[in-house]
Amino acid sequence: MAKAKSIAVIPPPVMVAVFNQKGGVAKTTTACNLAVGLGAFGYRVLLVDLDTQGNATSSFGVSPLPATGAFEVITGRAKALEAALDTAYDGVWLLPATASLRDNDHLLAHAGRRRGLLETRLADTGVDVVVVDCPPALAAATSTALASASAVLMPVRPDPYAHEGLVNTWYEIKRIREAINVQLGVAGILLTMTGSEPTGDDVARVIRAEFGEQVYAVDIPTDPKVAEAAQMALPVAVLDPDGLAGRAYVDATEEVLRRLARQNRQGTQLPPPLGRDEALNRLRGWRATAHGALLRRPDASPGWAKRAPLDDDGDEDEADDHGYSGPVTVEAAAVTPVTTGRRLVALLLAAFAAGMAAEALSGVLRRLFG
Ligand SMILES: Nc1ncnc2c1ncn2[C@@H]1O[C@H](COP(=O)(O)OP(=O)(O)OP(=O)(O)O)[C@@H](O)[C@H]1O
Ligand SMILES: [Mg+2]
Repeated sequence: MAKAKSIAVIPPPVMVAVFNQKGGVAKTTTACNLAVGLGAFGYRVLLVDLDTQGNATSSFGVSPLPATGAFEVITGRAKALEAALDTAYDGVWLLPATASLRDNDHLLAHAGRRRGLLETRLADTGVDVVVVDCPPALAAATSTALASASAVLMPVRPDPYAHEGLVNTWYEIKRIREAINVQLGVAGILLTMTGSEPTGDDVARVIRAEFGEQVYAVDIPTDPKVAEAAQMALPVAVLDPDGLAGRAYVDATEEVLRRLARQNRQGTQLPPPLGRDEALNRLRGWRATAHGALLRRPDASPGWAKRAPLDDDGDEDEADDHGYSGPVTVEAAAVTPVTTGRRLVALLLAAFAAGMAAEALSGVLRRLFG
């Protein structure tokens, strides 16, 4: 990764942590699309993969996990400028997950208790925004992100059990704000994968009623293009910027920017973005190049998604220096067929649980905020 600015004083980046304690709510999908969305609007963005699953890393076509990445940077074993990988999208870099993150989460316990450590480690990258993909747990990696973040964006899938994740997530944010990071703000609640469950509209209505302004006006609809994009290791905003989910992520990116601008406090200030039309054109352009590169077979063109990081002098480093030399591969996701009978039973159970969950959600949230 080339250093962004050569001026002596670089303002710290705005850091948005994408977090919900609940699994499978589109944290990674949101983090990746927000990162490219912000890149399309003209910002220099670093996406940090702090999830041991490494899904954000593979979403950018980097597979297997490299040897140097977020864990090594946080623990001081590598510099962010060396470990961050260039992506196919101008101005967007990836600090990948590594196997060490999977095996040594406990070694981040110290980082999770220290205000601003991640921010310090990323300071010399000179990017405008850092987007962090957090794991679905209150792990040390999550605390490390929240101890530095300016704001948390919470994707919530409005299923019958959404309230539990939301309440736990809210408690965790509150605890970290009080104990470690007073700067930690909320970048809002983004409803994801809407329209996929019969009870989803009711749950979404309850969440909107309880959280009011905190919930984004735009929601991300369920769209088969998201899975298609994931299989191709492309963010849906790149594969299909004019489609349902792609366009919704562009809208959500703009809403994130408006919310950060409104907060207008230290850690949330950014220069003005490019116009929407220009951003959409950039995404369409990326689709043409990234998609074209993929069609040329990823293993035949390892440079399409990951180029070797640049030295400060702009030379490409040997990939070996960073412990990553393998070709970029994209593995098709396994599709598990679900029988019609199982779907029906699941549907009935979900409908039953939704009634109970909506009621419980109102009570818990009233106690929390009222
Ligand atoms: N809008 C959408 N429409 C359809 N499928 C979606 C949508 N958003 C996400 N998905 C799919 O839902 C699954 C879970 O998404 P994702 O991995 O982003 O969730 P997550 O919260 O990061 O999961 P985890 O908690 O395991 O980290 C993925 O298969 C993804 O492709
Ligand atoms: Mg994830």
